[in-house]
Amino acid sequence: MHPINDPQFVSRQYQSDRNLNARIALHQRFSTNKTPWSQRVFDQLLAALGARADAALQLLELGAGPGTLWAENQARIPASWRVVLSDLSPGMVATAQRNLAAAGCVAAYLVADAQHIPVATASCDAVVANHMLYHIPDRARALDEIRRVLKPDGILLAATNGVGHMAELHALAHRFNPSLPATDPSPSRFSFEDGLAELGARFAHVNLVRSDNSLVITEAEPLAAYMLSGIPGTVSPTQRGALHRFIAGELAEKGEIRITPVTGFLVASQPR
Ligand SMILES: C[S@@+](CC[C@H](N)C(=O)[O-])C[C@H]1O[C@@H](n2cnc3c(N)ncnc32)[C@H](O)[C@@H]1O
Repeated sequence: MHPINDPQFVSRQYQSDRNLNARIALHQRFSTNKTPWSQRVFDQLLAALGARADAALQLLELGAGPGTLWAENQARIPASWRVVLSDLSPGMVATAQRNLAAAGCVAAYLVADAQHIPVATASCDAVVANHMLYHIPDRARALDEIRRVLKPDGILLAATNGVGHMAELHALAHRFNPSLPATDPSPSRFSFEDGLAELGARFAHVNLVRSDNSLVITEAEPLAAYMLSGIPGTVSPTQRGALHRFIAGELAEKGEIRITPVTGFLVASQPR
């Protein structure tokens, strides 16, 4: 099994929000798209709900991580919504609880595996599953569960990465250490194509909305921290010093390092 959906790797990786924060920080600092990511996600959620957005809705987030989506959009959450944040990692759920309390958000919390969602059939108006479906060992099971918990007019919003996501990062890692793969070594990562096919088998309507962006990186430390954050294909902590010097050398020579995220939203409705 590849680390990306190996339960032991995933559980260590997300024991706390430290690794994820290193990756988020790189995007926040160096994105050329100046609309914050959590704002782009919330815009998509409102667009997918359409005229129903002001109704009394039940929303469930799977793999919610530190709860950034809600904490950073606190002022936009209608009072009529009941929001439930869930994650497999108890540490992440505890962090989400703290972050939302600090932001003044009211929500409910669950430690839950998306492969066995402890929620009643046809009870959710929306399920959000951002950048997490590629971590699930039995993704078909999780997608069946999502379909089960959605109401007939419910929607799924799932952010994911397309093929070639941050390709320059892998090329850079390979130049630093030729034993590292020059391209993303992961198997099916719930790419746009995987998502359209797998959701298309379960929902009558599936739409892909691309969210184009690029990173123009001008400092070594945030990029080194990203590459050391432990996602598959990145660099071992034992090489921290050497990696830092390598990136600093690249920046001294070129002035900047450009990396292209390939990210978008799959919006699915009318569960079959
Ligand atoms: C890349 S993070 C994404 C966090 C958040 N959705 C975001 O976009 O910032 C992936 C999250 O999925 C969670 N996760 C991994 N496997 C899971 C599973 N089988 N069920 C529920 N959550 C899972 C991890 O604990 C982690 O918090």
